[in-house]
Amino acid sequence: MNDSLLSFYRIAPGLLALILLAGCARMPIPTSPAPGAASPTAPPPRPAPTIVATVTPAATSSGGDAARGNTLFASLPCSSCHDVMHPFPGGQVGPNLGNIATEAARIIKLPDYKGRATDPAGYIRESILDPNAYIVPGDVYHTADGQSVMPKDFGTTLTPQQIDDLVAYLLTLK
Ligand code: HEC
Repeated sequence: MNDSLLSFYRIAPGLLALILLAGCARMPIPTSPAPGAASPTAPPPRPAPTIVATVTPAATSSGGDAARGNTLFASLPCSSCHDVMHPFPGGQVGPNLGNIATEAARIIKLPDYKGRATDPAGYIRESILDPNAYIVPGDVYHTADGQSVMPKDFGTTLTPQQIDDLVAYLLTLK
């Protein structure tokens, strides 16, 4: 009898500790009521969506400004070869760009598209910097030796910002 009582006393502190631990685990975390009580008056935190919504209207991920791009397009030779009021197919000198954002998305999925663009912005950028990467089908759009009729030097005559602006503008033409 003494032996079993003794061994009970020996393990009793451990048991007590276990019981206390189990009890604690089931208890609510003591600090949680405080923030919970304060939150009803505080506005819900949502910084990311708000910031994106205010930045996106005229800009793209590349930092271009569509309004500047529109002005630029009209003042550069672009507008003497490209109609932006009508959709492709069509265009006697260069393809109509009135729906170029939609066209770009279609072209990059074509089996005979061999360029490197993976999205419409990338395709438009590539069209300006490297017109030969993909030549729109049409007898008047390429020379006899298979080169694009579009000038190939916009990558050196325009600044990176101007290219970004042109891309942002053309992406609005859906
Ligand atoms: C001398 C005429 C000419 C000028 C100037 C010109 N382009 Fe082009 N552009 C073309 C032709 C022709 C094509 C079709 C051949 C090709 O795909 O490269 C074309 C193709 C394009 C395409 C791809 C169209 C599509 O349907 O896939 C874009 C985008 C484009 N040009 C933008 C521009 C921009 C922006 C400028 C001004 C910075 C410009 N072009 C200046 C003749 C021109």
